[in-house]
Amino acid sequence: MTTFALRTASPAKTKAEAVVVGVLPEGRLAPGAEDVAAAYGRKLSGLLATIGAQGRPGEVAKVPTGGTIASPLLVLVGLGEDPDPAAVRRAAGNAARAVTNAASVALALPADSPELVRAVVEGYRLGGYAFTSYKSRPGASTTPGEIVVLTPAARRSEITAAVESAQVVVDAVTAARDWVNTPPADLTPPVFADAIAAAVKAANKQLPSGGTKIRTTVLDEERLAELGCGGLLAVGAGSAAPPRLVELTYRPKDAVAHIALVGKGITFDSGGLWIKPAASMGTMKEDMAGAAAVVQATIAAARLGLPVRLSVFAALAENMIGDAAMRPGDVLTTYDGTTVEVSNTDAEGRLVLADALGRAVEAEPDVVVDIATLTGHMVMALGDRIAGVMGDDEVVAALLAAAEAAGEDAWPMPLPEFMDERIHSSRIADLAQYDGVRWGGGLFAGAFLREFTGGLPWGHLDIAGPTFNKGGPNGHLASGATGYGVATLIELLRARSTATDAAATDPADAAASAPS
Ligand code: BES
Ligand code: MN
Ligand code: ZN
Repeated sequence: MTTFALRTASPAKTKAEAVVVGVLPEGRLAPGAEDVAAAYGRKLSGLLATIGAQGRPGEVAKVPTGGTIASPLLVLVGLGEDPDPAAVRRAAGNAARAVTNAASVALALPADSPELVRAVVEGYRLGGYAFTSYKSRPGASTTPGEIVVLTPAARRSEITAAVESAQVVVDAVTAARDWVNTPPADLTPPVFADAIAAAVKAANKQLPSGGTKIRTTVLDEERLAELGCGGLLAVGAGSAAPPRLVELTYRPKDAVAHIALVGKGITFDSGGLWIKPAASMGTMKEDMAGAAAVVQATIAAARLGLPVRLSVFAALAENMIGDAAMRPGDVLTTYDGTTVEVSNTDAEGRLVLADALGRAVEAEPDVVVDIATLTGHMVMALGDRIAGVMGDDEVVAALLAAAEAAGEDAWPMPLPEFMDERIHSSRIADLAQYDGVRWGGGLFAGAFLREFTGGLPWGHLDIAGPTFNKGGPNGHLASGATGYGVATLIELLRARSTATDAAATDPADAAASAPS
């Protein structure tokens, strides 16, 4: 167990096993490290020059202090020109992997605002993340026994609150990463559904007293058949492991909004009979990341006691090639009665989401948000670190703002009118699942999903790119699962928790925002 402490103490006098400080360009240390700079005095710029610390993002250097400060080891991480929360989060993540097997670490990074302190905590814990469940002998530990965040603002209540809520966010992101990293044979839809139920149960037990519990309902294949969830059943038909729809509800008494969250949970995407090229299949255990994100964001919301009602739908299926697998040419009927002509069995996400969106609409939320590793087209368009955001302008704007606050990169994509023609191009069914045209495939998928949103305000996050980091760790991102989207969703829920136009009702806020 790691404990986190906030202290106003001087980093030069703190006796941790390592002290982490930020480096800015031109041989300066970042705010928070002033008295370390003072302890080194005129020697500092020469030292930084010798070890090649130029303050560039990604730089990490370790220096034995030889008694210059109380700690034996100084860890210098580059922050770049602008040490904003995103830069601090990355730098803290890089620092975490540089310090192994330490009993205690003191972080003297810029941390005098809630946003910065949050970035320090999230960056350090997420950067030190490793998925070790399958290692017989886990390597060197990057989780110190004690992490101390040094900040002059340590006693301010919004700073302590920021540390606590950052820990809740990190727990949620970490748990989502663990699920995504789990080998697909060990996380089939029934197993994943059980794991979700168990995670919710455990979270409910540990809620602060008076906290509202999350309720879980798992719909199995029989129930899905009764309900007419033709999308989930068709996609799951080729697998020995049947599909599940997991529904969570969180209904705090003081709710000021009602949000539906829908997540794609394909536990492995082989492509089905339209089988993927081998090279594209290797990481397709990641295809349930949307489901992991909605569940973990819900758990975080309950732990934080956010006053938003949630109706959550995790659509779980495995897309395989068994003898009952759906075929190109099949027509299925989704939960809301829409008929869909399947032509590409690898475009399975939209089929399971169609059922889940239909269920979400019935809950009559104010807004529906779905999150899915939906299309390779989005990866082509935006690369592997940025999510595409589609939907109604107001929801897209809210999602982009949430992503920004969470430190996740997202970009708006259009849903052009001409997509309507394409999704309606089936000769025999209401909708075409795919039309053989590669151009704009991510937008086609978005337009297809919109058909199932019942005209409710809706937003769609295509996270196919940023969900899985195929390269080495960087910043707060480990290699493998990133947990992308969890923090953005939590931020969205937070924003909606206070969306009741405070300026109009709270005289203090009204005064603060009045023109002077
Ligand atoms: N799960 C994939 C999308 C994906 C691609 C996720 C890369 C993560 C990384 C999805 O089910 C899929 O196969 N999409 C097809 C859509 C096409 C058939 C319309 C694709 O991207 O090629
Ligand atoms: Mn697919
Ligand atoms: Zn998929």
